[in-house]
Amino acid sequence: MKTFEEAKTRLELLEQSHLLRFWSELSEEEKRTFLAELSQLNVEELQDHCRGATKAAFGQQTSPLDGLHQEMEPVPPEFIGGIKRSDQNTLVDWENEGILQISQNKVAVLLLAGGQGTRLGVPYPKGMYNVGLPSQKTLYHIQAQRIRKVQELAAGKCGSKCTVPWYIMTSEFTLDPTEKFFRENHHFGLEPSNVVMFEQRMIPAVGFDGKLFLQERGKIAMAPDGNGGLYRALLDNLILEDMERRGVEYLHVYCVDNILVKMADPVFIGFCVRKGADCGAKVVEKAYPEEPVGVVCRVGGVFQVVEYSEILPETAKLRGPAGELVYSAGNICNHFFTRDFLRSVTQQFQGDLKQHVALKKVPYLDEDGNLVKPSKPNGIKMEKYVFDVFQFSKKFVVFEVLREEEFSPLKNADGAALDTPTTARRSLLAQHYHWALAAGATFLDHQGAPIPLKPRTVQDDEPPAVCEISPLVSYFGEGLDHLLKDKAITCPFILDEVAAEKLKN
Ligand code: UTP
Repeated sequence: MKTFEEAKTRLELLEQSHLLRFWSELSEEEKRTFLAELSQLNVEELQDHCRGATKAAFGQQTSPLDGLHQEMEPVPPEFIGGIKRSDQNTLVDWENEGILQISQNKVAVLLLAGGQGTRLGVPYPKGMYNVGLPSQKTLYHIQAQRIRKVQELAAGKCGSKCTVPWYIMTSEFTLDPTEKFFRENHHFGLEPSNVVMFEQRMIPAVGFDGKLFLQERGKIAMAPDGNGGLYRALLDNLILEDMERRGVEYLHVYCVDNILVKMADPVFIGFCVRKGADCGAKVVEKAYPEEPVGVVCRVGGVFQVVEYSEILPETAKLRGPAGELVYSAGNICNHFFTRDFLRSVTQQFQGDLKQHVALKKVPYLDEDGNLVKPSKPNGIKMEKYVFDVFQFSKKFVVFEVLREEEFSPLKNADGAALDTPTTARRSLLAQHYHWALAAGATFLDHQGAPIPLKPRTVQDDEPPAVCEISPLVSYFGEGLDHLLKDKAITCPFILDEVAAEKLKN
């Protein structure tokens, strides 16, 4: 679509000519930009996309999938390892394996950060969010420091300096602000060349009538293509080639919003490597049958994540002999992939990934050119999910971890019942409080009175003592004994590198 006439003819054929409604009001520059955008749309794909989206939205599953329960089976025990399922020696063994792989520069982390974060509702990328910790660190800051610490631990144990590259998938919404934020913060002490940002593709949002929306007079409303857009983005941006050049063989892929994420987790990496897996998923035990998380299971012999809306309530409620839920492997978007597996997915399967329908509130220009912000969903976004590749794995494994130690996502603004800045902050502070207690610390309030102990619960309330531990001091609770044993700490307390030095003396 190089000229207006061409664009007009094509869009008329596609029944999308309303997109040119404000053409005469655009400046020459805006016309050029809009034509360039229109010319990138593949006409056939677009037609299929609009038809597919409306059909899928109208036929969308609102009830469990027929017959699914007959084909579902839980992950067989031989495919599962986990913190509660394995003895201490085995866990240490896996951890040592992971540390060894990290020390040999074979491990990278890959962050999925292209989402729009509409539920949280801030006008900047979620990784830049500050949940109100005493240190005021943002999610990106915490994650960067975890990478620095795990590199240091591996170097310390194996005697050689090493790098865990950080790949960050962004989208049109998040790339520029994320780059700027990292630059302004000096990449949080990481070597900039080891932080690799790349962009996923965008696809148009579609109205229930099959029509595209205008977001501006010369701009179509687009949205990122879901976190499963990763596989196409890896291809588009030659990321696997970059990994190969660096000698990276194993990837830990995770979401931006989990404040407890254990990046490049040596235990998980070591477990997957020892099992010879090409693909792995970390899971937490589902809390209750109706909990809205997908479960990792097998369907017709193939591993996949079944969404909570797809399972029959009686299947979700099934319990085993010890009273545990049969379908308990709650997916937390925390995955292991070998580079070879990613290569085969991107080359052979990425076009086959299932499209999921998401009904979204899409802001649009009405006929008079006024911006409308709908209060309920008015459009369809077709998304791919990162986990839909499990089916292609030749050796898939599952690793179960403790929710209170490793999973607390930031999804919603404060005021919602779950997964808010408050719950994320509490989870982190509760974890650090218990690490400090385990290391032998006691806590005093600002008047010097002892703060009574509080036992650990899965539902983290505000911990009685505020003690935040910098990832640069401890990656996952290690190395605190010699700092905190028999120490009485006045709260609130930030255990950063400076405080750690003082405690040593
Ligand atoms: P969510 O499904 O929670 O979506 O993403 P979101 O966009 O962050 O938030 P809402 O639904 O609009 O409120 C889970 C993870 O997948 C990433 C997100 O950045 C987050 O880390 N993601 C999501 C992408 O990388 N790309 C996408 O297109 C969508």
